[in-house]
Amino acid sequence: MESALTARDRVGVQDFVLLENHTSEAAFIENLRKRFKENLIYTYIGSVLVSVNPYKDLEIYTKNHMERYRGINFYEVSPHIYAVSDNSYRSMRTERKDQCILISGESGAGKTEASKKILQYYAVTCPASDQVETVKDRLLQSNPVLEAFGNAKTLRNDNSSRFGKYMDIQFDFKGAPVGGHILNYLLEKSRVVHQNHGERNFHIFYQLIEGGEEDLLRRLGLERNPQQYQYLVKGNCPKVSSINDRSDWKVVRKALSVIGFSEDEVEELLNIIASVLHLGNIQYGGEDSGNAYITTDTQIKYLARLLGVDGSVLKEALTHKKIIAKGEELKSPLNLEQASSARDALSKAVYGRTFTWLVNKINVSLAYKVTPHTYKNASVIGLLDIYGFEVFQHNSFEQFCINYCNEKLQQLFIELTLKSEQDEYEAEGITWEPVQYFNNKIICDLVEEKFKGIISILDEECLRPGDASDITFLEKLENTVGGHAHLTTHKLTDGKTRKVMGREEFRLLHYAGEVNYNVNGFLDKNNDLLFRNLKEVMCMSDNKILTQCFDRAELKDSRRPETAATQFKTSLAKLMEILMSKEPSYVRCIKPNDAKQAGRFDEVLIRHQVKYLGLMENLRVRRAGFAYRRHYETFLQRYKSLCPETWPSWQGKLADGVSTLVKHLGYKPEEYKLGRSKIFIRFPKTLFATEDALETRKHSLGERESHVSHAVVVQAWWKGILACRRARRRREAANTIRRFIKGFIYRHNERCPENEYFLDYVRYSFLMKLRRNLPKTVLDKSWPTPPTALIEASERLRKLYMQNMVWGYCKRINPEWKHQLEQKMVASEIFKNKKDNYPQSVPKLFVGTRLNGEEINPKVLQSLGSEKMKYAVPVTKYDRKGYKARPRQLLLTSNSAVIVEEAKLKQRIDYAALKGISVSSLSDGVFVLHVPTEDKKQKGDVVLQSDHIIETLTKVAICADKVNSININQGSITFTMGQGREGIIDFTSGSELLVAKAKNGHLSVTAPRLNSR
Ligand SMILES: Nc1ncnc2c1ncn2[C@@H]1O[C@H](COP(=O)(O)OP(=O)(O)OP(=O)(O)O)[C@@H](O)[C@H]1O
Ligand SMILES: [Mg+2]
Repeated sequence: MESALTARDRVGVQDFVLLENHTSEAAFIENLRKRFKENLIYTYIGSVLVSVNPYKDLEIYTKNHMERYRGINFYEVSPHIYAVSDNSYRSMRTERKDQCILISGESGAGKTEASKKILQYYAVTCPASDQVETVKDRLLQSNPVLEAFGNAKTLRNDNSSRFGKYMDIQFDFKGAPVGGHILNYLLEKSRVVHQNHGERNFHIFYQLIEGGEEDLLRRLGLERNPQQYQYLVKGNCPKVSSINDRSDWKVVRKALSVIGFSEDEVEELLNIIASVLHLGNIQYGGEDSGNAYITTDTQIKYLARLLGVDGSVLKEALTHKKIIAKGEELKSPLNLEQASSARDALSKAVYGRTFTWLVNKINVSLAYKVTPHTYKNASVIGLLDIYGFEVFQHNSFEQFCINYCNEKLQQLFIELTLKSEQDEYEAEGITWEPVQYFNNKIICDLVEEKFKGIISILDEECLRPGDASDITFLEKLENTVGGHAHLTTHKLTDGKTRKVMGREEFRLLHYAGEVNYNVNGFLDKNNDLLFRNLKEVMCMSDNKILTQCFDRAELKDSRRPETAATQFKTSLAKLMEILMSKEPSYVRCIKPNDAKQAGRFDEVLIRHQVKYLGLMENLRVRRAGFAYRRHYETFLQRYKSLCPETWPSWQGKLADGVSTLVKHLGYKPEEYKLGRSKIFIRFPKTLFATEDALETRKHSLGERESHVSHAVVVQAWWKGILACRRARRRREAANTIRRFIKGFIYRHNERCPENEYFLDYVRYSFLMKLRRNLPKTVLDKSWPTPPTALIEASERLRKLYMQNMVWGYCKRINPEWKHQLEQKMVASEIFKNKKDNYPQSVPKLFVGTRLNGEEINPKVLQSLGSEKMKYAVPVTKYDRKGYKARPRQLLLTSNSAVIVEEAKLKQRIDYAALKGISVSSLSDGVFVLHVPTEDKKQKGDVVLQSDHIIETLTKVAICADKVNSININQGSITFTMGQGREGIIDFTSGSELLVAKAKNGHLSVTAPRLNSR
């Protein structure tokens, strides 16, 4: 909306409240003209939509357009019927208040088209379901049916609605259309029997004749030629270029079946339509003053069959009237004129009642079917497509009713518009200043007041005995309400007005202008009488529709039926009640020219309509307070660049921002008011000045703004992507957490969909952890703790892995290393957990020999001869007597252990003779080689000490094959000294190694304590 403010010179203002000179009709029309030239047919007066009939198809009703207006703020897009539709729909949904859209305007202004556009908008944009689709179809299809039976070609409109229509569309709590209900008002029945020149009867007659299948026409006794029917020739206009009766017939037939008419019902309905045509062709013979008789028997035959009545009874009823005098029934023959009008009255009654039946039938089909599963209270949007104010050269009873209807609607409009205006001021905390406006209640009262009103006076004349006539009605008006400011007659008025009034006319000063009504026909039309015997014939009909239309109970009711005007008054009162209970929106339709031509803007015609649609009054009421109002946010957003404090953004409260902005712009206190959430600007010029300032500012910001705006677009786009990503990640994370928690809860269950993700994850993470923490060497015994589900698998894996590692390790071992390990194995077998200094020996590799060739005396080597030397180590020998320590070498050959002192072979012990080896369990290096005592060559057991005790003894055990002959002793070792004497070595633990003869004669060995023990 605001964006178009800049183009206002060319396309005018989109809201008339922004017209500088809002009281000028010329300015109003000029604005309409500018817009019409640009094909902008819609303009607002506040929330009222003014629509000018373009008389051409504009590309503004596409699905894209519908989408554009969906859920959008009224002022954000250009005015459109869809904006009104959407606004009503959203108010209904959000405020839970029933809505109504009142469409008014003169014949041909586009009311019916507007109502169809609204219906289509709802059909396309509202939520749907299978059931809803059916309802949508029926709602849409009710239009062609009602138009076929209730619309006709007139001089003003090729598809003129000849009845008023109010349609409720019901929506369920989801906002889907679920039902509908139609109220119809005052069908122009006179058209059935008479049409003005250039006009036609209701479309259905022509559609049936042009489109009906041969068979059907034969059954109905009809010919395919409208000229054959008296009721279709009065206007001398059977064909209209803009209407294709044949294709319309197909549309109507399809619509009838969509709505739910059975084949039988359609047949009966068409029987009635055909009967009306046959009735029209009944001709009478006889003198003007004599009794009338029927000259066309064929028609009676058809009628008897189609209506399912006795032909002769019908014939008589069409030529006589039944009078009840003094309790006796008398039949009185009718003259030619009376008989013709009786026939026409029957045609009108039959057609009129069938039309009402049709509306009821459609209502049954549209009814909101409440099932136990549906919510009973549907919300409602009502559409009122009703005749606008009519002023002709000659105005009759119909115009009187129509204009009365418009007075009532105007009253409702003023009351509701003022009320909503007042409500808004109150809501915003702005003082309400009373608006001066013309309250047309005085005219409504003049028409409808009990006993004193025009309708009461008319009814009185219709009902009173004696010679009541249209003229006596006029006289009564003069006598009763002649002094009323809004009524005058030829007799009562001044000379000037008298010149433009007929003697049989009364003039009403409507809110929209003066209208002269000719009283001729008022009484007849108001009485709308059908002779009793004709009613009786219809009550006897076999046609199922007619039996519903003509109820026998009606015959028994001796009260006079309500007059047409009173019925209309009652139905209008009900309509007002309906509309009052709803939130109204208004569409005011204007017809741009009488020629139904596109692009022609007839100023005189339009001024006339602007006047009688009350648009200027409408604008005055709307402008009484403030021309423009907007929410602070919208206002600030648009104009913030005009004030350094608010540009580029205002951080404080919106109201303060707007206040700062308007002060900077120099608004005077009387020019605006700040409400609770909106700013109200009194004059358009204030707004326009601001708008112009904005235009200038835009130029100065020029390039920079465009760069900034591009940057903003890119930034927004990129931020959007990042936000999407973040949101997606957050969503995924939430899902993972949710699955995790669920899995954790179900973790002890069998594998199931709830825990499979969790279990898989636990397995996966264990295996990954294992992979990172596998033992590096065969000796490394660490292994991650498996989850319960993987205990078995983990154990198997561990074994496999170990085997694999060991195998790999083994493959890498060379013979040398193998030999080393074999010796270590032997050492382990002998000493592990038995001798204190064994653990220290484990990491130290055993060497091949501790003494090489140069360190051993060559003589010794020589004396060993061919014996291969396997190991040599320096040792300390303790004498058997006195335990004196002497350095010696211990050599191990393939056959014996040899103790050498320098070049001397001191003692040789054959392995075979080696009885055993004793050693302590402590950390000392003392050991005893036991030899047999009987061996004279040996001088007794040898007590030695080696610094590499584990290595030395392992070598001895291997070389001598005495692995099992090494005794590890606790406390002491007993050994033989030769000649049968024994020596004892006592072992104790101490701080350091000490080997000495003790006082008791034992060799005392103190072995150092090791930390490992
Ligand atoms: N928005 C529109 N776009 C194009 N043509 C339109 C539009 N509105 C109306 N017309 C044209 O004007 C004709 C008359 O419109 P419509 O039948 O709606 O008038 P009306 O106000 O209902 O008249 P009546 O009171 O006689 O029923 C339509 O048949 C159509 O040709
Ligand atoms: Mg219409």
